[in-house]
Amino acid sequence: MSYLLDNRRTEAGRRFAAISELFDATTFRHLAATGIAPDWRCWEVGAGSPAVAGWLAARCAYVLATDIDTTWLGGDQPFEVRRHDVAADPPPGGDFDLIHARLVLVHVPERAAALASLVDALRPGGWLVVEDADPALQPLSCPDEAGPAQELANRIRRGFRTLLARRGAELDYGRKLPRLLRDAGLTQVRAEAWFPLTAPANAVLERATVEQLRGQLVDAGLATEDEIAEHLTNVDNGRLDLAPAPLISATGRRS
Ligand SMILES: C[S@@+](CC[C@H](N)C(=O)[O-])C[C@H]1O[C@@H](n2cnc3c(N)ncnc32)[C@H](O)[C@@H]1O
Repeated sequence: MSYLLDNRRTEAGRRFAAISELFDATTFRHLAATGIAPDWRCWEVGAGSPAVAGWLAARCAYVLATDIDTTWLGGDQPFEVRRHDVAADPPPGGDFDLIHARLVLVHVPERAAALASLVDALRPGGWLVVEDADPALQPLSCPDEAGPAQELANRIRRGFRTLLARRGAELDYGRKLPRLLRDAGLTQVRAEAWFPLTAPANAVLERATVEQLRGQLVDAGLATEDEIAEHLTNVDNGRLDLAPAPLISATGRRS
């Protein structure tokens, strides 16, 4: 099953920028808490854009950034880039001190096998940081459903969740991460949830996501063209308090 939010679409660049603005500070805090050191070897899984791999490369000896689609990882980067499907390809060789995947496994139907392969690729004492959405924990686009514009936003978000589920996404995956990391044998497991209730980048992410999925939402009968146009106007007028799904950041250590 292919990834719903294909990186080859132009909207992907705007989505990556908004994801960075919304979540990088949280991500970097969790990565820094592992005690990241200059001699470490790191693997950024499903990197998407250079944001996290670049941050790691400024602090570590070696960083490998992989993705099924490396379109946005091109150019002269301070890290190695490889095309790699975490669901199907064997992990790259070399024991890693730190492996990080953000908003990747939730989309991968074979996520159990993928998580096991990430754990296997850690050196003893290495850290795994997995961050994933839990759209079922907070399913609303506008938690403050104050009127018709917010109701429409929430209906379109429901359509987005339906499309995600049809592609094999696990909508309550984020909350399971601490248990899954423990079950995989990791120790010192901790996890935290975070989401901005309203921020300018939420509107950028909402517009880019809805524009990217517009055709699929209409074809599946989940929204009409008129509803999508009205929603995008509402997004642009800045009066919706738009929220993303919470990001669950889970960390564990291989003993
Ligand atoms: C929502 S984006 C997140 C990108 C980046 N991790 C971030 O947080 O900014 C999901 C990324 O996972 C990648 N992806 C999806 N399925 C994958 C797979 N099976 N193996 C590797 N990468 C995958 C996509 O191509 C995309 O770049």
